[in-house]
Amino acid sequence: MKIALGNDHAAIELKNTVKEYLESLGNEVVDLGANENKGISYTVFGEAVADKVVAKEVDFGVLICGTGVGISIAANKVPGIRAAVCSDPTTARLVKQHNNANIIAFGARIVGSEAAKDILDAYMNAEFEGGRHQDRIDLITEIENKHSK
Ligand code: RB5
Repeated sequence: MKIALGNDHAAIELKNTVKEYLESLGNEVVDLGANENKGISYTVFGEAVADKVVAKEVDFGVLICGTGVGISIAANKVPGIRAAVCSDPTTARLVKQHNNANIIAFGARIVGSEAAKDILDAYMNAEFEGGRHQDRIDLITEIENKHSK
């Protein structure tokens, strides 16, 4: 799979661990994240990864900031993005099965490197179930369309 990866300054170390892990599984990783603390906001990295996902240049995105929250909120402003913050593998599985999340996010100040790998495994090994869950995603898209300028 081809995966876009983004992070801010709070998550450089975990980003490198995650990148190495994803590559060790045979994935191609497009690293769009921070590699040094230059005071660039997490919004920049969230948007960069979201753009790659909606353009279908990658299969999905991974975002990491301190909590995973700011960077996912930024990504979720891009129409078509469903970025989900996960701190455990159960949530990670369900955001794929039920929400068809196209970006998974987590916090470097919240989860350790082993937990991050478990979260990614759960997400990547799950399949979207469609059916009633697709109906709900369609309703989310309706909200998005209603509020877009
Ligand atoms: C940066 O200090 C921190 O605010 C950011 O990484 C993130 O946690 C925001 O949601």
